[in-house]
Amino acid sequence: MKFDIVTIFPRMVQAGLAEGVVGRGIEGGLLDVQVHDLRDYTTDRHRSVDDVPYGGGPGMVMKPEPLARAVEDIRARRGVPDAVVLLTPTGRTFTQAEAVRMTRLKHVVLLCGRYEGMDERVRTGVATEELSIGDYVLSGGEVAALVVVDAISRLIPGVVGDEQSVAEDSFTRGLLDYPHYTRPAEFAGQRVPDVLLSGHHADVRRWRKKAALARTLERRPEMLNTAALDDEERALLDEIRKETNNERD
Ligand code: ADE
Repeated sequence: MKFDIVTIFPRMVQAGLAEGVVGRGIEGGLLDVQVHDLRDYTTDRHRSVDDVPYGGGPGMVMKPEPLARAVEDIRARRGVPDAVVLLTPTGRTFTQAEAVRMTRLKHVVLLCGRYEGMDERVRTGVATEELSIGDYVLSGGEVAALVVVDAISRLIPGVVGDEQSVAEDSFTRGLLDYPHYTRPAEFAGQRVPDVLLSGHHADVRRWRKKAALARTLERRPEMLNTAALDDEERALLDEIRKETNNERD
């Protein structure tokens, strides 16, 4: 999959791409990511990417022309992208479902905003969609672009070594993940649940399902309204609800 990231902080983005799963995906040729310095697409002596807002008020607004030129250049040199995404807190919220949807795309351009905002004509005339990574305001879209590239990349077959671990992630099945343990069997006075040491695979599987359901019920109950539960999971959920009611009584 191909990504082009347009930013005024190319080194910050490059650093975030260099390590871990995404770094290995790039090295292995499964990901083709290029970072573009927005200032290379300016035409004035000062390489300005922002200007004062029409109508007055605080802060600066990102100019439309350098971003439009950057996308034009990417089109010419890298091909027509499937999506041009503007990272902004006013965009649609990026979720795991959205990451899954985007794995169908072959080429995505990510535009990182900075300053108080972006000239509206970037949204209407350059970007094809707008994404937010959550209800908080970052000082720019760079970290958000890295989040989007990471979440999509790890879903591309081969990028994460262990496909099974991706399939079992939190959110993939609409539930939070179950708790994980490794050695030692006792740490800081806390023991690993006996069932995980028992070697009974069916019991381990059932314990994990139940633990994932209990954790989801406690922390994110609204997720259970849309999770696709099988018969065993519905029965386990009833069991958990009864147990928690008994504890309260
Ligand atoms: N830029 C600033 N805040 C952001 C957010 N929450 N998501 C995406 N881009 C942003």
